[in-house]
Amino acid sequence: MLISIADVLSSDEVRYFRSRLDGAAWGDGEVTAGFQSRTVKRNAQLPEDAPESRELGSLVLDALDKSLLFLSAALPASVYPPLFNRYDVGQGFGNHVDNALRQVRGSTKRIRTDLSATLFLSNPDEYEGGELVIEDTFGPRAVKLPAGHMILYPGTSVHQVRPVTRGTRIASFFWIQSLVREDAQRRILFDMDMAIVKLRQQVGDNAELVALTSTYHNLLRRWAST
Ligand code: NI
Repeated sequence: MLISIADVLSSDEVRYFRSRLDGAAWGDGEVTAGFQSRTVKRNAQLPEDAPESRELGSLVLDALDKSLLFLSAALPASVYPPLFNRYDVGQGFGNHVDNALRQVRGSTKRIRTDLSATLFLSNPDEYEGGELVIEDTFGPRAVKLPAGHMILYPGTSVHQVRPVTRGTRIASFFWIQSLVREDAQRRILFDMDMAIVKLRQQVGDNAELVALTSTYHNLLRRWAST
């Protein structure tokens, strides 16, 4: 399931992120690449312990906490501290799958990458190429969203970032361990939750909505592990 989430960051917030990132000391993207992805990854990345990574990463986490769409779609158990990358002209990231497990830097905590997320920080008119192409069950899907918008996709998907041919593409990316490991189960819960929210707006609370909401929670109880 691919889900795009609009306005995770406001345009003012995006401007602030960009000004902080412009002055940051970028490093080579190779540092967090796995064995296979290292051979196809060409980009710059902000070191995980850079002050900008920590500050902006925690602002991303605050924004995610306020996004009902994100919480419903991802059912997050843990979110990896957000990272930041930059693709200049000629840079891209060939087809790969993200590592299944990631150790959080400076801790013993490991996160299973059930979902991958890209939060766009450049607007589409600032660069050409640079699409995130995700192999979905319906074939490849090319994604390029406005700055401040985010795409969530299953960690199991093969994906790539097409080479940038003009300008610069800046984004934040991170992974989520979900309370519900299976994408298909998360999809059922998400569809049901969205339908319940809309029904409640249309008809207000009634016995049937209480029954549907109970079913949602009973499925979540059945499928969630903490
Ligand atoms: Ni990746």
